[in-house]
Amino acid sequence: KTIPATLIAGDGIGPEIMDSVVEILDAVDAPFAWEAHLAGMAGVDAVNDPLPKQTIESIRKTGLAIKGPLTTPVGGGFKSINVTLRQEFGLYSNLRPTKSIIPGSRFENIDLVIVRENLEGYYAAIEHVIPMDGDPRAIAMSGGFLSRKECNRIVRFAFDYALKNGRKKVTLVHKANIIKQMCGLFLEEGRKVAEEYKGRVEVDERIVDACAMQLVTNPWQFDVIVTTNLFGDILSDLTAGLVGGLGMAPGANISEKAAIFEAVHGSAPDIAGKGVANPLALLLAAVMMLRHVGRQDLADRIDAAIAKVITAGEVRTRDLGGTAGTKDLTAALKQAVS
Ligand code: NAI
Ligand code: MG
Repeated sequence: KTIPATLIAGDGIGPEIMDSVVEILDAVDAPFAWEAHLAGMAGVDAVNDPLPKQTIESIRKTGLAIKGPLTTPVGGGFKSINVTLRQEFGLYSNLRPTKSIIPGSRFENIDLVIVRENLEGYYAAIEHVIPMDGDPRAIAMSGGFLSRKECNRIVRFAFDYALKNGRKKVTLVHKANIIKQMCGLFLEEGRKVAEEYKGRVEVDERIVDACAMQLVTNPWQFDVIVTTNLFGDILSDLTAGLVGGLGMAPGANISEKAAIFEAVHGSAPDIAGKGVANPLALLLAAVMMLRHVGRQDLADRIDAAIAKVITAGEVRTRDLGGTAGTKDLTAALKQAVS
């Protein structure tokens, strides 16, 4: 085990699906030397902190983490853990691949990636209320900002990702026709960066609303999509829906300081502790993590095992229309991988 990595099991179904993922990683002898740390409700219960210092220190040291879903504590004045992590490590890029694995589902042969800007845009949440006629919130305002530097590096990230992963095309998704300054800057900088990749990676452009429609009518035309924070959030949930929902959707938050891999779904309190959670989203995140550290060989093996088990169709969790529990699926995957 040569690569130190931080492991946060998470809340709700987190520990169940993390156990499953670690078992499968062990089965292929993955190189990660785990440093287990707390966050979320587990952190609040243990040390009254949803993001303890030791957890942050560990990620600072390893620069690499896998994270189960965290329950955001309601009340108590705790700040969102995911937002804190993004800021702490400058995680400007949110990478969300969408790939069809389940045969016979609504959409087959989909293989696209959304690169979402993760720090700026409307999620910078610069909000303001204006009182009027005794109503303290007569008018509510929300602003966003986008820097030229950020536009440049997120689009560059998308083109570099395309080059490294043998992808042919990057689509810049924007609303520059209406949001002329913020989205206009994104488009302007995007075109500039695209010019540098001319002849190596194709560039294309879409206005976000048309893109949403086309993602449903003809998703196959897309390869890599790069877009701003809010649009990326919405479109990546849409694309998760194309291939079987949240139980199949992995994601990564990446900067030069750290890379944190996770499932897109939350802690699923409604099924926590029942042994029925689908571990595949978190497992697909682990596969991304293996590719990130250059272990394409192991990533390919796990991908193949997932495809084999899911295609055979006998062992599927309830969210995929089956009756298998987390442990049944884990056992089937372990057998398929060895
Ligand atoms: P959720 O994603 O936890 O659950 C939504 C629905 O999908 C539920 O019916 C759940 O049972 C099902 N589901 C989710 N993952 C599943 C899996 N792996 N297998 C089978 N079924 C699955 O969203 P919800 O209920 O809105 O949020 C619950 C908690 O999770 C909240 O505290 C929220 O703040 C947190 N959350 C954390 C995230 C993170 O840490 N990255 C992301 C989203 C939510
Ligand atoms: Mg979202």
